[in-house]
Amino acid sequence: MSLNLIIEPLGGSHDRKAFSCGVVALDHYLREQASQDVKRRISNCFVAADRNVDLIAGYYTLAASSVPIASLPDDLTKRLPRYPVLPAILIGRLAVDTRYQGQRVGSILVVDALRRCAQAAPASFALIVDAKDDKAAAFYRKHGFTPFQGRLLSMFLSVATALKLFG
Ligand SMILES: CC(C)(COP(=O)(O)OP(=O)(O)OC[C@H]1O[C@@H](n2cnc3c(N)ncnc32)[C@H](O)[C@@H]1OP(=O)(O)O)[C@@H](O)C(=O)NCCC(=O)NCCS
Repeated sequence: MSLNLIIEPLGGSHDRKAFSCGVVALDHYLREQASQDVKRRISNCFVAADRNVDLIAGYYTLAASSVPIASLPDDLTKRLPRYPVLPAILIGRLAVDTRYQGQRVGSILVVDALRRCAQAAPASFALIVDAKDDKAAAFYRKHGFTPFQGRLLSMFLSVATALKLFG
């Protein structure tokens, strides 16, 4: 059966307990912490809800952040004004339930995060992420993210470049 997903803000009707992505900390976060963070305006949480079976296929969080211009590669900064810090949006967490992995739900979530960045009223230069390990970093590299200077797991994606990439 083809996936019938809707991506929407986490709400009371979503079954957070059934979510299982293979990383206990990410399951625990969705179950116990995500809605508190939303209430306290620390981050927003968006879920890909499966309309066929009432499960959360995946989720991600977004929060306002910033990047020091010195952490970006020179070939990028030479085309930018010399502001010391640029606005960014952080994907704090992103996970896909094991039952949905390998079906492009992760890609859909990254593109949805990008779309929300591009449409938000405050401008953001980049979408940034702290990948939790090499495997996660490989997933983000696949989606155009580049490591900050001298970092391996801390990565960014220029919103303007990504809009060209993903249309
Ligand atoms: C990493 C994760 C989000 C990927 O989600 P997914 O829905 O299975 O990935 P998709 O099906 O959307 O894959 C999209 C592309 O990324 C690739 N990809 C997926 N996981 C990858 C990985 N770990 N390393 C490299 N590439 C990966 C896929 O092969 C696919 O490539 P293709 O376009 O050439 O076919 C998911 O496996 C997950 O939630 N893992 C546990 C939590 C986690 O590690 N979160 C990372 C954030 S810190």
